[in-house]
Amino acid sequence: MKNILIKNVNIVDAKKNICGDVLIKDGKIYSIKNIENIDENTKIIDGKGFTLLPSFIDMHTHLRDPGYTQKEDLETGQKAALKGGYTTLCAMANTDPVCDNKETIEYVLNKAKELDLCNIIQICAVTKNLEGKEIVNIDEMLSYTKLFSDDGKTIFDEDIMKKALAFSKDLDFKVLTHCQPEFKIVDRDLSLLEEVGGNLHICHISLKKTVERIKEAKNKGLKFTCEVTPHHIFKSDIEYKVNPSFRKKEDVSALIEGIKEGYIDVIGTDHAPHTKEDKENGSPGISLIEAAFSMVYKVFEENNISLNKLSQLMSYNPAQILNLNEGLIQEGYEANLVLVDLQEEYKIETKKFISKGKNNPFDEELVKGKVKLTIKNGKILHKDQ
Ligand code: NCD
Ligand code: ZN
Repeated sequence: MKNILIKNVNIVDAKKNICGDVLIKDGKIYSIKNIENIDENTKIIDGKGFTLLPSFIDMHTHLRDPGYTQKEDLETGQKAALKGGYTTLCAMANTDPVCDNKETIEYVLNKAKELDLCNIIQICAVTKNLEGKEIVNIDEMLSYTKLFSDDGKTIFDEDIMKKALAFSKDLDFKVLTHCQPEFKIVDRDLSLLEEVGGNLHICHISLKKTVERIKEAKNKGLKFTCEVTPHHIFKSDIEYKVNPSFRKKEDVSALIEGIKEGYIDVIGTDHAPHTKEDKENGSPGISLIEAAFSMVYKVFEENNISLNKLSQLMSYNPAQILNLNEGLIQEGYEANLVLVDLQEEYKIETKKFISKGKNNPFDEELVKGKVKLTIKNGKILHKDQ
């Protein structure tokens, strides 16, 4: 494998903002300083005018494989993700069959290994067939994943949720909770967490009231993480079917305040591709992984939120939560990086999406900040034309 040297680039992560060179060797970040002596086995990239960030980590992606490959499959979903600057994806379990068993998870992990694109972390369902009634064989599934979620479905049975949280504490895994109705279930889950402990991540929060409840819990010292999507901070009051729904202006402002004040840990895309037909028949969801960074950057810039913060929510915090040796541009870390042009403005064009899902209400919308190059373990896996 060739080494890569990115010269004279703005290096930004959650903790720094400097200008320099980055040398990548054997898939890892080898050094960050002004590097002069290089051998012929090194590819040089002129980074002048561009910004290098740790590539993005998505804790919430629907890849639809197996079973709904007319909407997306492991290849199109990962290629779309790479175009969006993502190199690690946590794939939700609402596939067909549901990812609640060893055969299905092995199918996904084997196919992902063959494709050799992103780092795929497959999430296992909490309950069998996402029915909310019987907890899966957690012991068996723990050899494949430490993430469990019934996303797409709410776990309404309080006893089941309580048990799942208690197990997550004893067996050291994470429960990602999908909450609908949002406030009621978030409130319940936080009360249960206080009662039994455990490792909880709250998916896609969208309401002012929820942000307030989360602030209260975090200020009390309760340990958990939560996520917002790019679309819930990008626009309010839109008629487009997605779970949770688009909210009001005051909700969007509360989410942005929550980000500024440090109460929101993660931006998760909830990339939810559908066919044209399924969308017309009422399937909720937005295909957006290719545009997620540009949407978030636009919102952050308009609200004076730093790029360090963006990197924290899109790379560093997810890496910490998932225990990955990445998310910072630092010697010894995985060379999972994304080169962006922060000045470039462009229109989202859904017809150009690599994703099979063209379902996105922001077609023709002007955004800012474009992914130019995505590098995974020292290999260039996406290049903007
Ligand atoms: C999700 C999907 O399509 O899988 N859709 C969505 O609008 N977020 C499932 C869900 O969370 O409802
Ligand atoms: Zn969900």
